[in-house]
Amino acid sequence: MTLDSRPARPPGPPFRPSAVVQMLRRDTPPWRFAEMAQAFPRIASLRLGTTPVYLVTHPDLVREILVVQSKSVEKGPALKGAGVVLGDGLLLMPNERHKPRRRLVNPAFHHTRLAGYAVPMTVATDELLDRWSARAGERIDMAEEMAGLTLDIVGRALFGAELGAEAQQVYADMAQAMSGWEKMMLPGGARLMRLPIPAFKRMWAGAAGLDAVVRRLIAASAQRKAEPVHGVDVVGDLLDAEIDGERLSSEAVRDEAMTLLMAGHETTANLLTWAWHLLSRNPEVAARLRRESAALGHAPSYEDLRSLPYTYGVVAEVLRLFPPAWVLEREVTEEIVLDGWTIPVGAIVLASQFALHRDPRFWEEPTAFRPERWLTAEGTFSDDAPGQPRGAFFPFGAGTRVCVGESFAWTEAVLVLARVAPHWAPVTEPSWRERLHAAVTLRPHGGLPMTLRPAV
Ligand code: HEM
Repeated sequence: MTLDSRPARPPGPPFRPSAVVQMLRRDTPPWRFAEMAQAFPRIASLRLGTTPVYLVTHPDLVREILVVQSKSVEKGPALKGAGVVLGDGLLLMPNERHKPRRRLVNPAFHHTRLAGYAVPMTVATDELLDRWSARAGERIDMAEEMAGLTLDIVGRALFGAELGAEAQQVYADMAQAMSGWEKMMLPGGARLMRLPIPAFKRMWAGAAGLDAVVRRLIAASAQRKAEPVHGVDVVGDLLDAEIDGERLSSEAVRDEAMTLLMAGHETTANLLTWAWHLLSRNPEVAARLRRESAALGHAPSYEDLRSLPYTYGVVAEVLRLFPPAWVLEREVTEEIVLDGWTIPVGAIVLASQFALHRDPRFWEEPTAFRPERWLTAEGTFSDDAPGQPRGAFFPFGAGTRVCVGESFAWTEAVLVLARVAPHWAPVTEPSWRERLHAAVTLRPHGGLPMTLRPAV
């Protein structure tokens, strides 16, 4: 007990082995965090093992962790585990080295570059529409379709390359690498990962496959630079970049390129996958989305984005209900105080988008899919309308480590939905239940089987 006779840690759910086992499953933690936010409305202490773990359950404390006290925390071990694939890129880089690297990558995502990226976004979407045109009535795995599309987009927009047939291989390699990573995160997993265990052998094979693709993309970009006329691509920028007068090493370019390829497609793929599912279950929303797009009189492009406020609302609502980044994790590196509680060095602090985005304290009818909640009285879209507290919606994080690709992702998601919805109204099978697979990102467990139905 401390001097003021409070226990040293804030209250939290009681330790129960069954609860620990539940937390190791992939489908329950988001729901458990949402329940905890109701029982412990600001901060909860979780007893999961020897490391102290805290869940912040109020927007004020999310801000403390991500913005106000962000210098005293680093990325946590679960995310850092993804380093076996990503290496030392922007997402995982320690704070100390982050600022110059972020400055270097930022220009690629400046709003003036977005109009240029919108072109490959629409071209790749039209190619998807072509592929689908002969598949009416077919059953597809929407998760795989959307991963293929977003990979295609990121490849063309950021790497100036068409991945074509390689996209499927990347999808398969990524699935293997991620499934191994999930096992590595289980207790004792990290010690086993170099042993010849099939799951880890597959993880390394997947990671090697991804590595080979990224190195090929970098080599292709370097070759294009040597040509007298060449387009702009981000890898090209990285190859030219200097920090303190020094070029990035080839490993640094590889790690950054890998980070952008992976972080830039998996999240948006999940966003779009959940979007089609929610539209299927909410046909009146899908109809309004289609009407907004059809009212343009032509296939939507970058110049039309301002005329698509409802589509933005749909994207915001999907990000709210199924945030692809569903939890953020930080490890405390300098003792901090949260709400008067001392959080020691080495502790883990979690902030769950899934929990706060569905919290009835901050959202009216939290589980309802209502894109209009994001529209102002004038009918424009606002990502802080209608007055929900800042910090109750943070799908892209906040502070210095906020997502660098946020505007890219909004543009991509709006353009894809607005271009595809007038043609297709994919249907989730009535018996399909929303079973989550919550790992680095929030995916539907086992993919999302849908039937391709033409829109009427
Ligand atoms: C719906 C789509 C996306 C979501 C939900 C999302 C979410 C996030 C979140 C929550 C973070 C912060 C992680 C943390 O604080 O621990 C982050 C960081 C990052 N994201 Fe995204 N992201 C998306 C799309 C993209 C895209 C399209 C790109 C690139 C093309 C991208 C690249 C990155 C990178 C490089 C970082 C690390 C930034 C830094 O630390 O400076 N993301 N993302």
